[in-house]
Amino acid sequence: AHPSFLASALLAWYPRHQRDLPWRHTRDPYAIWLSEVILQQTRVAQGLPYYETFLAAYPTVHDMAAAPEAEVLRYWQGLGYYSRARNMHRTAQQVVTEYAGKFPGTYAELLKLRGVGPYTAAAIASFAFDEAVAVLDGNVYRVLARIFGLHSDIAAPSSRKEFQAVADQHIPASTPADFNQAIMEFGAIQCTPAKPDCLFCPMQHQCWAFQHGQVALLPVKSKA
Ligand code: ADE
Repeated sequence: AHPSFLASALLAWYPRHQRDLPWRHTRDPYAIWLSEVILQQTRVAQGLPYYETFLAAYPTVHDMAAAPEAEVLRYWQGLGYYSRARNMHRTAQQVVTEYAGKFPGTYAELLKLRGVGPYTAAAIASFAFDEAVAVLDGNVYRVLARIFGLHSDIAAPSSRKEFQAVADQHIPASTPADFNQAIMEFGAIQCTPAKPDCLFCPMQHQCWAFQHGQVALLPVKSKA
């Protein structure tokens, strides 16, 4: 693939700006899965202590699978949405019973796990197994919409294909994990929903939205 300005800019930006987060120091698919389950509807600052608690209580997927559900729910206390904890526990049991305790090593296989959708499958596949599949979350949609001037409604399910194709075009085969962490982090701390830091953005000149004065208008997101 040809060199991507997006990849170059993000990979230069990332080491200088990234927060030091514990799940970025592991290649263990179980720990990565755990972090993504916790962070799905929870802010990093709130999720951090829960990640540490769960890993200490259940160092492996076997430990979580063997735990009583009531205990898992107790550790989850304060995070809300208890169905997430129940589903997490069941997924751990599925990995143990159907996959001998080993998370599958590809995006396609990961998608077959209960409760694991495209986002989580891409996160595990890239962070743990270096598969070049791009993660798409709210931060990534925003960055892509602004840089490339994509006006599709990100609330419409049909937009996923378009954004996924653009992201997959730019993710480098050599460093997919860093690219995915970097684009999420860039959206979280520089290309923010309100008051993005365009003045110090390394992609100012390539950014469609900045060049057209439409940063505040993108991404397009309907209410529904
Ligand atoms: N939110 C969801 N996944 C994340 C990750 N890997 N790093 C930081 N924030 C996140």
